[in-house]
Amino acid sequence: SNFRVMNHPLIQHKLTIIRNKDCGTKEFREVVNEISRLLAFEVSHEMPLKNVQVKTPMGIAKSKALAGKKVAIVPILRAGLGMLDGVLDLIPAAKVGFIGMYRDEKTFKPHEYFCKLPSDIADRQIFVIDPMLATGGTAIMTINALVQHGANPSNIKFVCIVAAPEGVKALENAHPKLNIYAAALDDHLENGYIVPGLGDAGDRLYG
Ligand code: PRP
Repeated sequence: SNFRVMNHPLIQHKLTIIRNKDCGTKEFREVVNEISRLLAFEVSHEMPLKNVQVKTPMGIAKSKALAGKKVAIVPILRAGLGMLDGVLDLIPAAKVGFIGMYRDEKTFKPHEYFCKLPSDIADRQIFVIDPMLATGGTAIMTINALVQHGANPSNIKFVCIVAAPEGVKALENAHPKLNIYAAALDDHLENGYIVPGLGDAGDRLYG
């Protein structure tokens, strides 16, 4: 499977803080960004390197530099915006694309209401970010939109904080080449919400 849970102790500790129903907006926002920075660090371990030489003040060092495609970060509005600054801290030169999706309250079917992507999105490695992978509908529709713009799912990493097994399965089935990362794989869905999860991330971030 292309699904991985990132078990770094700092990620797990911070996840406990934002799961707590008594965590207020200010702390929730701060810690979502801290987790996102750590997730980006873990996920970026797989970036390819090339050998380079660099002149130091004392000589020439055989050293390394990033070799792969440039990065685009795509937060799914709204809640994905809460992760953006944390990821940009680690990859500050990345371009950013925005996709707006909301779920129908009854059917949980996602609807796209905004899409603005870098013109060279197809040539970049893409980090799609959204705190929640619930039914998977939003993520599937987002990857579909990126594919329509020429992106290849094997160049896309979907990075979330909490995932439901139902969503992971649906997303894997729809896009078998996609890489999926989460801070936690939770128990199940109840009425479209992840249990135990952390509530509605968009509402907890923005109201
Ligand atoms: C939430 C969440 C995901 C989506 C996951 O967004 O941030 O985008 O639901 O659900 P799914 O896997 O079942 O599609 P929501 O629709 O609440 O919008 P918001 O981020 O603007 O609050």
